Amino acid sequence: MELINKLNWRYATKAMNRQKISQEKIDTIIEAISLAPTSSGLQPFEVYVVTNQEVKDKIKAIAWNQAVVSDCSHLLVFAAWDNYTEARINKMFDLVNEVRGFKNEGWENYRQMLLSNYPQRDPEVNFNHAAKQAYIAFSQAIAAAAFEEVDATPMEGFDANALDEILDLKKERLRSCVLLPLGYRDVKNDWLVNLKKVRKSKEDLITVVE
Ligand SMILES: Cc1cc2nc3c(=O)[nH]c(=O)nc-3n(C[C@H](O)[C@H](O)[C@H](O)COP(=O)(O)O)c2cc1C
Repeated sequence: MELINKLNWRYATKAMNRQKISQEKIDTIIEAISLAPTSSGLQPFEVYVVTNQEVKDKIKAIAWNQAVVSDCSHLLVFAAWDNYTEARINKMFDLVNEVRGFKNEGWENYRQMLLSNYPQRDPEVNFNHAAKQAYIAFSQAIAAAAFEEVDATPMEGFDANALDEILDLKKERLRSCVLLPLGYRDVKNDWLVNLKKVRKSKEDLITVVE
């Protein structure tokens, strides 16, 4: 129940008050991102944590001038791999072997299956697949923020190419896909804060197959 109460408390905050979030809470939200499940465990994305005011202001200008980008405490930028490469796949499979301390034939066969499929695919298909994994972590970050009573604004309203230039993401072979400003609601100036949450009916959402 506590989870549902917190998810009802959260909303896509439209105005924040520039209050800083404690490092402890940020660490918890980052841990939730890190613990998100991803396809084949590849974690094909990185997260930039922007606290520099000048950089936030620059990003606001290419994010439909949405005020929370400047007025948040921490701006999370989810950036997915631009492609699946042999090196990227091998790095994660090698990490699994290192952490678990053994090599497994089934796992090595699975590695070879991915290596013979992913790097040859259209880079756009691979980026879209990687971005989907980033969105899983993004969703966990939203829930974790709510649990910590930190406000957040899920945000796709920005120019991804312009943001990639600001953060020099191309060089890292990353492409931004979604933003999450984190901070505290400015109750006086947020038109959304007291409005009811709107969701379609469970009948329209759920089909039970018995
Ligand atoms: C992927 C994604 C992108 C969104 N982009 C924006 C955005 O650019 N600006 C904004 O104010 N809200 C944005 N939203 C917020 C949604 O409008 C909001 O989550 C939805 O209306 C449900 O309301 P609630 O989050 O307050 O419950 C986005 C939400 C998601 C999940």
